[in-house]
Amino acid sequence: MLVVAALEVVWHRNRGAELRLIIYRMTQVAVASTLGTVAVGILLKQDGGYNVQVVESHKNYGLAVMWISVVAMGLLTWEHHRSSARLRNGFRGLLAVIVLLLPLVGHSGGKMTHGTEFFLKHAPAPIKNWLEGEPRNVPAEKGANGGENRLWSEVWPILKERCVKCHGPDKDKGDLRVDDRESLLIGGESEEPALVPGDPAKSSLIRVILLPQDHEEVMPPKGKGQVSAEEVTKLIEWIQKGAEMPNGFRGE
Ligand code: HEC
Repeated sequence: MLVVAALEVVWHRNRGAELRLIIYRMTQVAVASTLGTVAVGILLKQDGGYNVQVVESHKNYGLAVMWISVVAMGLLTWEHHRSSARLRNGFRGLLAVIVLLLPLVGHSGGKMTHGTEFFLKHAPAPIKNWLEGEPRNVPAEKGANGGENRLWSEVWPILKERCVKCHGPDKDKGDLRVDDRESLLIGGESEEPALVPGDPAKSSLIRVILLPQDHEEVMPPKGKGQVSAEEVTKLIEWIQKGAEMPNGFRGE
């Protein structure tokens, strides 16, 4: 669609029947691929495991682009048969709307596959702070339970680095979220508690981390990073001492 928009600009400067035909054919290809993309998106959505809100906005932007493309194709087809400036301008107007919508579709799609933070992850700190507001995700240092919260402030970065992209706000693989105490206590699909405060050996969270690297249940899955010995020790210590998490903690 972007190429079609660019060709429209070229045509405006340098009119020619041949270029008009190219625009017509390119639009047909683009609209067909939009339909295909939407179909694949809907199939992937059935699979689940994505952040529901992000999926919803991605779907809405995607469907908007699809419908507008279909109508635009209709206008262009009409224009192809009886050359009319009015139809052509209608087509161009819709094309402009599509060009404006595409970055939104792309951005929400990026959030789904790379996580909500992908866009800003490597941005310079001042830009990041400006767009996100004050830095969050600094767990309270002093709670009712100062000592335990100190442990949590060391444990959270490990979970965040190693687990959250699959078990957090964006995806909840195996139906488990590590940023949610309730979810950890109940456990995921296996219905085995991921966290048993005071008992690391019964906590499946520790068990799956300690599995051999070629075991199919090892976490993170093979090739998706590995928790270091030092980090496991921290996690075990945290669970042994009661696995304190700030009240109502929700990742952010
Ligand atoms: C690359 C994605 C990914 C990462 C990273 C990841 N996991 Fe998983 N995890 C999965 C998938 C997928 C499943 C579901 C496995 C299945 O159903 O066979 C799962 C399942 C689990 C389960 C079992 C849940 C249940 O009750 O069925 C636990 C516990 C778990 N992960 C813990 C962790 C921990 C702890 C980390 C970080 C150290 C982590 N995972 C990192 C993808 C990931």
